[in-house]
Amino acid sequence: MDSIVVEESGPLNGKIPIAGAKNACLTLMPATLLSDEPVTLTNAPRLSDIGTMSLLLQSLGVEVETLNEGLVLALSSHALKTTRADYDIVRKMRASNLVLGPLLARAGEAIVSLPGGCAIGARPMDLHISALRALGAEIELKDGYLHAMTPNKGRLVGGTHKLKFASVGATENFIMAACLAKGRSQLKNAAMEPEIVDLVKCLKSMGANISGEGTKTITINGVEKLQGATHSVVMDRIELGTYMLAPVIAGGEVELVGGQMELLEAFCNKLMEAGVEISETANGLTVKRKLDKINAVDVTTAVYPGFPTDLQAQMMALMCTASGVSTLEETIFENRFMHAPELIRMGAQIDVQGGIARVKGVQKLKGAQVMATDLRASVSLILAGLAAQGKTRVSRVYHLDRGYEKLVEKLENVGAKIERVR
Ligand code: UD1
Repeated sequence: MDSIVVEESGPLNGKIPIAGAKNACLTLMPATLLSDEPVTLTNAPRLSDIGTMSLLLQSLGVEVETLNEGLVLALSSHALKTTRADYDIVRKMRASNLVLGPLLARAGEAIVSLPGGCAIGARPMDLHISALRALGAEIELKDGYLHAMTPNKGRLVGGTHKLKFASVGATENFIMAACLAKGRSQLKNAAMEPEIVDLVKCLKSMGANISGEGTKTITINGVEKLQGATHSVVMDRIELGTYMLAPVIAGGEVELVGGQMELLEAFCNKLMEAGVEISETANGLTVKRKLDKINAVDVTTAVYPGFPTDLQAQMMALMCTASGVSTLEETIFENRFMHAPELIRMGAQIDVQGGIARVKGVQKLKGAQVMATDLRASVSLILAGLAAQGKTRVSRVYHLDRGYEKLVEKLENVGAKIERVR
């Protein structure tokens, strides 16, 4: 199994291109199930999660063609062969649950295994189920599979629903299902993430009638049919935030090509509070630290536009060598501090109590053998390794392949000492 070896590096200088968003692409791909015409996605990220979603869609009968070295995905759902999403594929990735809404709306039925994904919490499906029930779906759990049916296997029926919690996936499933429902649907307390706005942009170009995306109330007027379209995937704000931290941790100045600050405001504000200079350029943004030392800042994760849970681990890596004590509170997932024990192996001083981690900055981290436990946790160890004395060896890097394309190459290009080894 591959590992990544990182050595103390810096100053880092140069450019890092930001890819299309994994999380947007993972909802755009199942959205193509809603039409029997081809949909082309450009600016797709080249990631193993995208490969997993392709396999899942292919198992349903979708033709998936990868063009331009993986940057373009051409999907055609003209002939579905089954409405059953099998455990063997679904268990690999929680985002597989995003076939539930579109499959149900298109075929009148969906049988979807309960998903797997990162081991960062219980991540149940109750919010998806109640949202789809509001559109007339009948859903029951049998043998580990959700069996969902439309009324008389016809169209779903427009309905209003208020989410108990602004779940990203439940919002996406509701929107996709309601696009083809009879009449008007409304989702209240909807999630507002940029990936949802991107999904709606694509659905609108397919002919959907949706308003309110990016706010807490989304209204959908169902249409009978959606057509084909071409859509460019929005940039990956989590990849952006991750690479913004590289020059902050290791020193230097890096330009993030394609980076947009407005999709990452809460995170950028925290970095500026910590003593980081962020400037917008013609092609993206540049990042460098103002002084040699970074100030400790407190962070609480929240739904968008709050501080993203998907950047909490990376922020913790930065706080490990900051001046002072910082508190990181995780409110989205109940088990998302698995990087803490690994960072402690590198000399960090972290005390985790429930959903709160208290990090006391140390002068220097030390390289160690550490284990990647989930996608974002793994990259936090790579970031920490950039500032740690000696070598850090991160094992189980398949987690990184799920969400960071060409990670070693991108960091190497700005001067990081990093290599992938067998
Ligand atoms: C998406 C992102 C993930 C990100 C998360 C929160 C994708 C592919 N993944 O995941 O990277 O970390 O948003 O920003 O877009 N929950 C329930 N019941 C449900 C659904 C969710 O209790 O039916 C809980 C989950 O256990 C979790 C919280 O709600 O504690 C947030 O989940 P949700 O917003 O649904 O995240 P995902 O869509 O799975």
